[in-house]
Amino acid sequence: MALSAAFILRQGLRCSRVVRSGSIFISHTMPSRLLHQGDPPALPQLPVPHLQDTLTKYLKTVKPLVTEEEYMVTEEIVKKFGNSTGIGTKLQQKLEEKKKATDNWLADWWINAAYLDCRGPLVVWSSPGLVFPLLEFKTLDDQLNYAAKVIAGTLDYKIMVDEKTVPVDRMGKDVLDMSQYFKILGTCRIPGVTRDTIRFYGQEPDPPKHIVVAHNNHFFKIDVYGKHGKPLNVRQLVHQLRNVVERSTHPTVPVGILTTQNRNVWGKAYKMLRKDKVNKASLEEIQRCIFLVALDGPVVNPTSNIMTDAALECVHGNGPQGYAGNRWYDKTIQFIIGKKGIVGLTYEHTPAEGPPIANLMDHIMDYMAEHADPRPPAVELTRPQRLMFNVGQEVKQEIEDAKIALESLVGDLEMTCFKFTGFGKNFIKSQKMSPDSFIQMAIQLAFYRIHGEPGAHYESASTRKFVQGRTETIRSCSEESVAFAKAMLNPELDNAEKAQALRSAIDAHKNYAKNAVNGLGVDRHLLGLKLAAIEAGMDVPKLFMDVGYLRSSHMRLSTSQVPARCEAFMCFGPLVPDGYGCCYNPRGDAVFFGLSAFNSSPETDSATFRNALEESLMDMHDVALKEGLKAKL
Ligand code: COA
Repeated sequence: MALSAAFILRQGLRCSRVVRSGSIFISHTMPSRLLHQGDPPALPQLPVPHLQDTLTKYLKTVKPLVTEEEYMVTEEIVKKFGNSTGIGTKLQQKLEEKKKATDNWLADWWINAAYLDCRGPLVVWSSPGLVFPLLEFKTLDDQLNYAAKVIAGTLDYKIMVDEKTVPVDRMGKDVLDMSQYFKILGTCRIPGVTRDTIRFYGQEPDPPKHIVVAHNNHFFKIDVYGKHGKPLNVRQLVHQLRNVVERSTHPTVPVGILTTQNRNVWGKAYKMLRKDKVNKASLEEIQRCIFLVALDGPVVNPTSNIMTDAALECVHGNGPQGYAGNRWYDKTIQFIIGKKGIVGLTYEHTPAEGPPIANLMDHIMDYMAEHADPRPPAVELTRPQRLMFNVGQEVKQEIEDAKIALESLVGDLEMTCFKFTGFGKNFIKSQKMSPDSFIQMAIQLAFYRIHGEPGAHYESASTRKFVQGRTETIRSCSEESVAFAKAMLNPELDNAEKAQALRSAIDAHKNYAKNAVNGLGVDRHLLGLKLAAIEAGMDVPKLFMDVGYLRSSHMRLSTSQVPARCEAFMCFGPLVPDGYGCCYNPRGDAVFFGLSAFNSSPETDSATFRNALEESLMDMHDVALKEGLKAKL
């Protein structure tokens, strides 16, 4: 997930969502299947960590990233902030009061700070892509059949959502907050001039019954429920999609490209666009729809790596020369079905993290496997409705400006996506190590190998153990990770010393991860303290301007594990101009990676990172294996 322009994201925030109250949790997250088996316990509240605990952990994360002199300054600032008369102690009280007054003290702050207040473009900086298992379409029929099955599979999933039978997620023995699942269909972000809003149309009294299909930059509304409220079957959907394609053979003015703009600019253009009655009606149909399906042509400028081509198609549609006008980036779920078999989606991040989206994809894949043959045709379909836009001179100019801005963003982003086949979770588990921590340490080592210094490193951890929980940051760069990277690259050290450094780095990471999923990380607490100061009209405390804070939250590595049952992977842009994005799907015997970097940074290159990462993974594998064999002798 990324922040822009997104000043806040630059400070290392990615991922979250919001629901109003605990009672909504009960009504929306108790699948009947689970209720039959006995009600799960109500979820606990996100804790406000003890101030001193957070400050101690914070200092530990700063240490590897600053000089000794800088560290002494940071230590002094932290001491003053946290003493009994310090500003931190007063702000802590405010957080504790907010905790008493709300279900989740962070939820409303988070959704604004991490998403709706961010003014940078959603494309590249915020919305991830999810690449589905790739296919080869030979004909238009192949493409439309697949698109129809994606639609049918999603409508099938929606039945589970509506009937509240989505199986409840767990982390170990803990039941997780499921409210994100109920927020991804029928949702849209609406641009504003200074802050966006989010509308959950699917939860309103008259929920939408249609989807929108984009083709050649045209938008069409398709009602997806028949007379008796039954979802259209695959045959019927193919019929409707074919009608759309036949009625949009040439590209039209790419109004959708406006949604790729900086949010202030789009917010102003949106107001202008909406003044026209026809436009207003079309905008409402797009915003209200259950989800959007973009039917694309073949990839423009394909490379030799189809996984990377697919990732770029999902993240930014290859810009104005490609299919960026054939999108509505404000829509939460937007499937992308390319002419030759590139398939996936992009999603607007405000309402949910990756796991519910990956879960939807897995359901679609299962649905497709179970419904190989289209069901019988039906009669009396409403013709897809073309959504018209009247585009005057002013809006045309906005579109031209959006094209220029997007062109430069697209030119700047480079990606390398691949399946690492050396080994997967099974091997790591066999070595009695945490797969996630192992991969995180490989990423640290790869960074150190290239740059000769550690990089501040963000990993998303889920806080869905708590009511309305979203994420916490795992600060994966630690003193132990740096000692490990140095040890691995030191030819003087023997295998046992390297293995020891590896275990110690993995333990440190796992320990931080455990704290993070229990709401006891550093970043959300510090964010709360900062926002409490701002809300009280106080100056932002010195701690947040200090080099220790700035460097440890300049996340040069933005990483996330998004597991899926199928061979898919998520991908997103870096959080900072001189950083990397790295999302992975660990599987039994392989790991899928989506890597990104910016061309404008001379220091970073995703292909170089791939090589360093593969080398690191294999070196760690060999060290662990040798040590394991020695132990057995
Ligand atoms: N020995 C053997 N097996 C071990 C082990 C060890 N020392 N440590 C862990 N394992 C096992 C676990 O039991 C687990 O087994 P399972 O596959 O049977 O369930 C498996 O290895 C994976 O555990 P691990 O790799 O340690 O971590 P995780 O999968 O629990 O993931 C987080 C850790 C932090 C990524 C996860 O808790 C989380 O928060 N995920 C959400 C992230 C998110 O929201 N991303 C999207 C952002 S948009």
